[in-house]
Amino acid sequence: MKRTGLLQTAGLIGLIAMATTATAQDDSQLVVNGEIEMVTDAPAPENIGGLKTIYSGWRFRQSEMQALQTDDFENPGAYAIDEGVEMWATVEGSEGKSCASCHEDIEDSMAGVRAVYPKWNESKGQVMTLAQQINDCRTEQMGAEAWKYDGGDMTSMEAAISLQSRGMPVNVATDGPAADAWAKGEEMYYTRYGQLELSCANCHEDNYDNNIRADHLSQGQINGFPAFRIKTGKLTQTHNRFKGCIRDTRAETFSPGSDEFVALELYVASRGNGLSVEAPSVRP
Ligand code: HEC
Ligand code: HEC
Repeated sequence: MKRTGLLQTAGLIGLIAMATTATAQDDSQLVVNGEIEMVTDAPAPENIGGLKTIYSGWRFRQSEMQALQTDDFENPGAYAIDEGVEMWATVEGSEGKSCASCHEDIEDSMAGVRAVYPKWNESKGQVMTLAQQINDCRTEQMGAEAWKYDGGDMTSMEAAISLQSRGMPVNVATDGPAADAWAKGEEMYYTRYGQLELSCANCHEDNYDNNIRADHLSQGQINGFPAFRIKTGKLTQTHNRFKGCIRDTRAETFSPGSDEFVALELYVASRGNGLSVEAPSVRP
């Protein structure tokens, strides 16, 4: 699985080196809390060109980092789950309702939800991310204010909801009414951005498992999001990660919650169809 093709890409010359640390093929297995067995590699979905096998980002991290994700007592992102569960039961807004007023137990009502988002919403006539759906419930169902798309409240709620799907396979629909957004996301994935003229694929498809500066490049999967970043000491939302990667190519980026990032999220999520939902994951 040596990626050499991209050493010719101008922006990457001098940046890429073969990994000297653990490689994705090391074949370590992720079991959380001694019971949830995660699928961290799977055959690539048929509509994803350029990859034979998909790997969770966990497979590219060093063993100390990997260990933090095997136990919720060690996982520094676990704080957000308690926060999210507390907010689930908190009454807010003009209708005097909490999430629990309509959805009852988070464990039952939200099981499997993360695994299929972003998802086409028939009544809105658009593909919606989990964050957009949560805000829709806040404004339309509760008469409460929308949360900041990538703010702390939203990210904690997303983590708490995602946890209810932990271990289930990502299974995002790419056909039917979602096909247009998916195609837009795919086009973005292969578009070269910024002064470095690099696409997502240049790094995460052509060069995964190589090193870029000090980083061991993964496939840029989002099955572990929201992800706790040691660097920032908090959970990071998918669109924030996209923003950071685009900025690294020295390009103007899109905003969290924009149509562009929703389409990109749908496409990137579908590249992980078959991997387990891992949130909250732990990353450098
Ligand atoms: C007044 C009732 C009501 C309240 C309160 C409410 N929701 Fe909803 N929620 C709904 C309805 C109805 C739907 C289905 C909407 C649709 O499909 O367009 C829904 C759908 C959802 C979904 C998508 C589920 C799926 O299977 O796709 C999520 C996630 C969700 N709500 C989260 C929340 C959260 C988080 C809160 C609290 C911040 C909340 N909801 C508050 C009524 C409510
Ligand atoms: C210049 C190379 C480069 C480009 C271009 C790039 N990324 Fe990244 N990306 C990285 C590095 C380095 C990391 C951190 C190490 C890793 O997880 O791969 C990263 C991490 C990620 C992660 C987190 C993965 C995880 O498991 O934690 C996602 C998601 C991601 N990138 C998506 C994207 C998307 C989408 C694009 C295109 C808009 C993109 N990246 C473009 C270098 C790049």
